[in-house]
Amino acid sequence: MNYEKALEAAEFIKSKYDKPIKIVLVLGSGLGAFADEIENAVKIPYSEIPNFAVSTVEGHAGQLVLGEIEGVSVAIQQGRFHYYEGYGIDQVVFPMRVFGRLGAEIVILTNAAGSVLTSFKPGRLMLIRDHINMMGVSPLRGENDTRFGPRFPDMTDVYDRELQQIAIEESEKIREKKTEKKRKKQPKPLLRRGVYCALSGPNYETPAEIRMYRMFGATAVGMSTVPEAITAHHQGMRVLGISCITNLAAGITNQSINHDEVMETGEKVGKKFKKLLRRILRRLA
Ligand code: HPA
Repeated sequence: MNYEKALEAAEFIKSKYDKPIKIVLVLGSGLGAFADEIENAVKIPYSEIPNFAVSTVEGHAGQLVLGEIEGVSVAIQQGRFHYYEGYGIDQVVFPMRVFGRLGAEIVILTNAAGSVLTSFKPGRLMLIRDHINMMGVSPLRGENDTRFGPRFPDMTDVYDRELQQIAIEESEKIREKKTEKKRKKQPKPLLRRGVYCALSGPNYETPAEIRMYRMFGATAVGMSTVPEAITAHHQGMRVLGISCITNLAAGITNQSINHDEVMETGEKVGKKFKKLLRRILRRLA
């Protein structure tokens, strides 16, 4: 049933944009501006795509933007469906099912996240090397359609190693350039590898919860990405995940967390993020 629904949505998208899509980008909170980088953009509001849910959260435009960046044809999900909004997990990952039917090979998932380490400050970027799913649900629960993938998919390498390497290399090039230009000591690496822990939200965590997640091995916490990563990996797509650290998680400092601060930091980091994403896309072209 979901397979046919995904095919129907894919056919609709193809009727609006007929070039094969190689890469999918999902833009997280405060990072939506990257969609403006697309040349000859075709924009499709989610409300027009058959079987898509509609995004409701503030700061998420809720549309698919298709076109080219750095010579690669991409589909950008500007706004995603969060589990905390009340959607069923099937609806949250439905776009991934559609991108799979469109033949996309690579998906780049981005998000805003809270750091559980004092040394890993807002404004930095995290390359997701692995995740911990604390959402309490798998998007693969229920009947499995083997046209998507196997019943019991392996999760050893959800985040593609080669893509991680490319991201690190490109981030190092940006750092080298910056050092040369300013002739000052090496700035901190732009990207730090870490483990993303996904929670259902919408409330932020308590300090006690954050201490627990840190003990579990989390580097940062957030409310998205993992369902999409699991679904994309299930379908054999290669996944790259990057988090923008927008705040220190609860109890790491004595400041409270608010959504406006999260959005603001996301927007401030936008330029750095844009540069890195462009470089990664160029490498993948
Ligand atoms: N917790 C959960 N999700 C988040 C956070 C956080 O501190 N910051 C941004 N998304």
